[in-house]
Amino acid sequence: MSTRVLFVCLGNICRSPSAENIMNHLVQQRQWADRVSCDSAGTASYHVGNPPDRRMAAAAKEFGITLKGQARQFDPTDFDRFDWILAMDNQNYRDILARDGTKSYSHKVKLMCDFCRTHTDTEVPDPYYGGPEGFTYVIELLLDACDGFLDQVIGHVATP
Ligand code: 4NP
Repeated sequence: MSTRVLFVCLGNICRSPSAENIMNHLVQQRQWADRVSCDSAGTASYHVGNPPDRRMAAAAKEFGITLKGQARQFDPTDFDRFDWILAMDNQNYRDILARDGTKSYSHKVKLMCDFCRTHTDTEVPDPYYGGPEGFTYVIELLLDACDGFLDQVIGHVATP
């Protein structure tokens, strides 16, 4: 059975779809596509149904990664449907846990940057209101975090 991973940010049009598509790219490179399945969601509903932000897609393209997907909002049923729920920033982390009425899923919820190995950031910064360099930085950071996450999950345990 594959490990199911959900990436979560605020709008699900910049950071979490990037993480999802970067992870799919890495698992394909390593021929692990049958062992990891990915999805992404936003804590907010503003952009539901929208494709990834075009500035985010342009930055990803520079790294050879095509962003696919349509925004959706995080749903409490996601707690059961995924093994790992990776939050991009501290606010996302709090908003996810606030939807856990049973208070029984906190072991599945982690910060994406916990898996970084070369960056010291603790959060993936929100690039939405900034310039193009912010979008490029998000891709660099997520490549580091996703690579570290994959090594940990595939190398060690299948569930948190
Ligand atoms: P994301 O970025 O959470 O990485 O998808 C944002 C997208 C939209 C907004 C903020 C952040 N917004 O305010 O509409």
